[in-house]
Amino acid sequence: MTAFRILHLSDPHLTGSGYDEDGVDAARALDLVIAAARDVDDLDLIVTTGDIADDGSVKGCLRARDAIGAFAGERGVPHVYTTGNHDRRPAFEEVFGSGHLGADGRDVATARGPAGACAAVSEVLGLRVVTLDSLVPGSGHGLLGGAQLQWLGDLLSTDAPRGTIVALHHPPIALTRHPLSHLLLHDPQPLADAVANSDVRAILCGHLHHDLAGALGPVAVHVAPGIVTRVDLAGPSTELTAVLGPRASIVELGTEWAPTTCTLTARDPWAGRLVYRVDATAV
Ligand SMILES: [Fe+2]
Repeated sequence: MTAFRILHLSDPHLTGSGYDEDGVDAARALDLVIAAARDVDDLDLIVTTGDIADDGSVKGCLRARDAIGAFAGERGVPHVYTTGNHDRRPAFEEVFGSGHLGADGRDVATARGPAGACAAVSEVLGLRVVTLDSLVPGSGHGLLGGAQLQWLGDLLSTDAPRGTIVALHHPPIALTRHPLSHLLLHDPQPLADAVANSDVRAILCGHLHHDLAGALGPVAVHVAPGIVTRVDLAGPSTELTAVLGPRASIVELGTEWAPTTCTLTARDPWAGRLVYRVDATAV
């Protein structure tokens, strides 16, 4: 069985200037992660699960597409994007189209989701790749509407040659004693119903800015760490603490015990520096 390896990026929070609203050099953080990824063999796909533009801007999306797309071009692999709560759909669509781009930058989606949602599907080496749009404008939490869930259910009524992955920003899990427990995907049960008894191998998410493993019924849920900042859980859950330290995930499918995930840590001498510590209830 041949392995399928995904570079899973999340939360670059780019802007036109390169700096996010907290003063972090987000462009540098993404560059560091990509530099680390250059040492990773045999990538088949790059998935970026949202919060691409910190300010929701076209310029932020363009910086991400240019940097990630250049690396994808070097490797000759597709690159796929979802929205996050910081993104805005018009800017996202202007820069990424369906969100499914080939190594040469062309849109490779085989179908788009329902109107009003940046959802789409493509197939990479037999693996079906589905992106969902959990963005709720003006809110930090996520939600999938009935139209997207119906569309997903219809897609999953037939199997793909090497199975399916689903990517969305907000994790469809429940967390207690966590500073972002109120900002996850609301009402995940319909998604659980849609992926139950399907060929979905994994659900890839972001949003939390730290890696996390969970499950939605029988399907593994993987949360990639954040690029722009790392949420530091070494503190009370009533506080949200972010430090520098860009990271990403390598997700492997297609092997006997898949999915497996591991963390790719960028070589950043500033890692661990405090960016902010705030009241989590105010986020
Ligand atoms: Fe984020």
